[in-house]
Amino acid sequence: MSELLPTVDDTRAFGRSLAAVLRAGDLVVLSGPLGAGKTALAQGIGAGLGVAGDVTSPTFVIARVHRPDPARGGRLPMVHVDAYRLGGVAEVDDLDLDADTDAALTVVEWGAGRVEQLAQEHLFVEIERPEGDEAGEARRVRLTAAGPGWAARTPALRTSD
Ligand SMILES: Nc1ncnc2c1ncn2[C@@H]1O[C@H](COP(=O)(O)OP(=O)(O)OP(=O)(O)O)[C@@H](O)[C@H]1O
Ligand SMILES: [Mg+2]
Repeated sequence: MSELLPTVDDTRAFGRSLAAVLRAGDLVVLSGPLGAGKTALAQGIGAGLGVAGDVTSPTFVIARVHRPDPARGGRLPMVHVDAYRLGGVAEVDDLDLDADTDAALTVVEWGAGRVEQLAQEHLFVEIERPEGDEAGEARRVRLTAAGPGWAARTPALRTSD
């Protein structure tokens, strides 16, 4: 499934709607080049889950745990990881996150090829600038679900082309 996101607000809105189908224990792997909008999408997911604290892309923090905020209708904690500087799954394991990832949603930027082993079921979200419009604001987002559980969630997640 792929969708065109004309502005950053559309990317955040896409993240919010995606959050509606996400559950405890899920792993979402965000990929795309520098400045693609991975953090913007993570912000939308965080808003959809109703987590506390601003979802940002800090330079010196690799992982942050956002607790659900009851005032925002918080449903699940979100573990937000920036794996850019991490070598692989062993280093992600070594983070010793102060969170039970079985009870949280884990969102990993730059996670492709690094973290898939952490969860049997994961959702790849690829963001890119549409071909021919590299200078514009628009982005294209492509979802690929890995694992059998996704098919039943929403029709939108059923295909990966
Ligand atoms: N359609 C769009 N979707 C997402 N971001 C957009 C869009 N149009 C413009 N932008 C801008 O592109 C930038 C995306 O930055 P963001 O930090 O989300 O990217 P990133 O992929 O997380 O980068 P990094 O690789 O450094 O982590 C923001 O400044 C945002 O305002
Ligand atoms: Mg980022």
